[in-house]
Amino acid sequence: MKFTVAIDGPAAAGKGTLSKRVATEFGFAHLDTGLLYRATGARVLAGAEPVEAAKGLTPDDMARDDLRTTAVAQAASKVAAIPEVRAALVQFQRDFARREGGAVLDGRDIGTVICPDADVKLFVTASDAVRAERRYLELSGNGHEVTREGVLRDLQERDARDRDREAAPLAAAADAVVIDTSDMTIDAAVQAAVRFIKARI
Ligand code: CDP
Ligand code: CDP
Repeated sequence: MKFTVAIDGPAAAGKGTLSKRVATEFGFAHLDTGLLYRATGARVLAGAEPVEAAKGLTPDDMARDDLRTTAVAQAASKVAAIPEVRAALVQFQRDFARREGGAVLDGRDIGTVICPDADVKLFVTASDAVRAERRYLELSGNGHEVTREGVLRDLQERDARDRDREAAPLAAAADAVVIDTSDMTIDAAVQAAVRFIKARI
């Protein structure tokens, strides 16, 4: 069985958490596509040329322990605006989406560019203040030295860059279901997503 769930949205909206839970619920594989851009950004910070960095990604690059830092997030969003970097990462994502057994992919352009024919498209969002607070708690809880103001600035800068770029900008697909999680628990968001997916299976 092939079944693709596309989950897009701005930074720290809860895409990854929702994707993991949905993947577990249905036994689908999950790909956090942001990691591809973060790993590319990390390689560029280490001196690599962006397109070569994206083309040569290895499993080790995807498992680096600095991928969640703000510096790498910013580098990711800068390399993500380069069309040739995005082009280098398309096929891997499309192959993953069409794997046997079902797949959930989360990112910025899954429903619009990577999988325009996805079976279910969700666009997850939340207010800037809520997203910044969640990401602040996550990063500070994991030992990162961050401030609330710094986290909010990172999210807003990346969202603006991601929305305004020419190549695969952050946007909800016309046929995506929008889930605003500002006032929702993770469980409530998962329940809503599971309902939509069950209705389409
Ligand atoms: O993948 P994305 O950047 O969109 O967000 P995430 O990493 O899934 O979520 C960011 C943080 O918000 C995590 O620490 C989640 O546990 C938390 N979160 C939450 O508190 N309530 C939600 N409804 C969704 C996520
Ligand atoms: O977890 P968070 O939502 O903060 O970020 P992420 O999903 O790990 O993505 C990091 C950066 O990669 C984003 O700010 C985007 O610039 C880029 N990205 C993208 O352009 N397209 C995707 N499908 C996924 C991420």
